Amino acid sequence: MAEDQLEEIRRKIDIVELINEYTPLKKTGRNFKALCPFHSEKIPSFIVSPERQIFKCFGCGAGGDIFKFLMLTENIEFGEALRTLAKRAGVKLRRYQPSESEKQKQLLYEINHLASEYYHYLLTKHPAGKKALNYILGRGITRESLARFKLGYSPNLWEALQDYLVKKKRYRTEDLERAGLVIKSEKRRGYYDRFRGRLMFTLRDHRNNVVGFAGRTLDPKQEEAKYINSPETLVYHKSDLLYGLVETKAAIKKADEAIVVEGELDAVSSIQSGVENVVALKGTALTQGQVDLLGRFTKNVTLAMDQDVAGDQAARRGIELADAADMAIKVVVVKGGKDPDEVAQKSPKLWRQLVKKAVPIYDYFLDSAFSRFDARTAEGKRRISLELTPILVKISNKVVQSHYIRQLADRLRVEEEAVAAEVAKFITEESAKAPSERKDYEKVETMNRREILEEYLLALAFQSENWVLLRKREIQQLIKTPRFQRIIEALSGYLKRYKTLDSQRLAKMLPAELKEAFDRLYLLEITDLIESEEKFRKELAKIKLALKKLGLKEGLKEIGSQISELEKEKKPTKAERDKLKKLHEQFRDLSAELSGLEE
Ligand code: CTP
Ligand code: MN
Repeated sequence: MAEDQLEEIRRKIDIVELINEYTPLKKTGRNFKALCPFHSEKIPSFIVSPERQIFKCFGCGAGGDIFKFLMLTENIEFGEALRTLAKRAGVKLRRYQPSESEKQKQLLYEINHLASEYYHYLLTKHPAGKKALNYILGRGITRESLARFKLGYSPNLWEALQDYLVKKKRYRTEDLERAGLVIKSEKRRGYYDRFRGRLMFTLRDHRNNVVGFAGRTLDPKQEEAKYINSPETLVYHKSDLLYGLVETKAAIKKADEAIVVEGELDAVSSIQSGVENVVALKGTALTQGQVDLLGRFTKNVTLAMDQDVAGDQAARRGIELADAADMAIKVVVVKGGKDPDEVAQKSPKLWRQLVKKAVPIYDYFLDSAFSRFDARTAEGKRRISLELTPILVKISNKVVQSHYIRQLADRLRVEEEAVAAEVAKFITEESAKAPSERKDYEKVETMNRREILEEYLLALAFQSENWVLLRKREIQQLIKTPRFQRIIEALSGYLKRYKTLDSQRLAKMLPAELKEAFDRLYLLEITDLIESEEKFRKELAKIKLALKKLGLKEGLKEIGSQISELEKEKKPTKAERDKLKKLHEQFRDLSAELSGLEE
């Protein structure tokens, strides 16, 4: 990839504008701030520098340029980010060498796409698909939906898809196997189609790549599994997939809410009934990957599950994950049919009403428990408390938690303290069991005091465009951290060659391992300190003083330990005695200097 084309794209796309489309940015001085889109947090630590055209999260450490941002938010590889941004910038890419794994993925997308078209054709146009077509139309799915969601039919033959893709389209059988479409036969040589005689659902990721399939049986008295799904492949990860998202993400953003249903047909029927902001989980509980993906579109999640989520451990785990990601979770109580599909088909209006009447998840948990146990008896109270305590413990927002502790106490007709005590007890028992797993991003790189001060000094100079300051000997003597010394060295080289201060150009001259340290200098929030000449001078004086003192203290410590080392010597030589004497003098001088500064 030609570097100049990358540069051109970077120049034409403003990182602030780009990121703002995903997460609202707030201006703070020279930079912009936001809640980090890559990890959940309550206080913004995600900074964007328009000057350097970079972003950085001081919470989780994610950072980079426009390409990196897109790769992270859209979960794509560099090549795809490049193509997307080139298109947006109106830059025609000359030559581009995709990585091996990207090529592999593209190939699988391509094969899957053709398979999807093939199945779809058979369902909608071919006599072989007649029975399946009648079945699905009979369930109230419209032709429009069949086309929009690319439903299909896999013929009841062993090698139909294989013949089409290999003999006709010239793909390799091994690649079909990598796509999960054919299976190697154990009994005889060769491969056979994974999906046979089934109604096919095309599974697409939120970028419209066909990643896999789900095949539903048409036989009501089926012997085999009701659904057969693609296996995990290079492009299909069951736990990351949200069925329908590519079609419904706009509606989800607009409504700022996602209705999460269990199956493909629930999603399609819901959309037909007018509830468009929906995705399906494919029969599993919410995973972390799905929560992260959904969180990019909305923080309001409404679960519409067939079974009682309160009694379902897996569903509860999913709810915990969403809660931990700061999502507001509601539940639709499905009535008037066994699942959303049935309700929406019977009465679109009823489905719309049920969705509107969704209740906050913890109200729902309380209602569910109180409906199953008798809250008037001690035993009933105990059972209710046993069921709800582990749930209340997991509420991450303390205000919300306290709200429900009071609710529970009221409804149980016991003291609030009693419920709170149960919750507290549960926490101690749990923490005794498992040492709390701190998340990775909480381990923010620790810098010592010297590094913090030096970084601060450099940030002041760079952000105020007072670069020459760093060429002063007086300042250079204060900087001891190698990476900052090297940045200053590079700066000196730069200033010899160029007259104008262009931080992008300087960044390019730096060796790769210094880039991160350099970027940080532009991300530190110090605008208020450099906006007036006077504040700047004061701040600079303060840091210089702090660094001088620190230098002296470090020197004293060093000399102190040398002295005590020498003083251990029982019979010191003459040289050692002289050395000791010198050290004492030095110690005295440094102390004097330090106390002079401290005044
Ligand atoms: N599912 C699955 N494997 C199964 C059963 C179900 O992957 N063996 C997933 C499918 O994604 C399905 C969802 O769970 O869409 C919901 O299951 P279910 O309601 O049983 O499927 P439907 O096709 O809606 O069946 P029904 O006509 O009985 O409602
Ligand atoms: Mn169903």
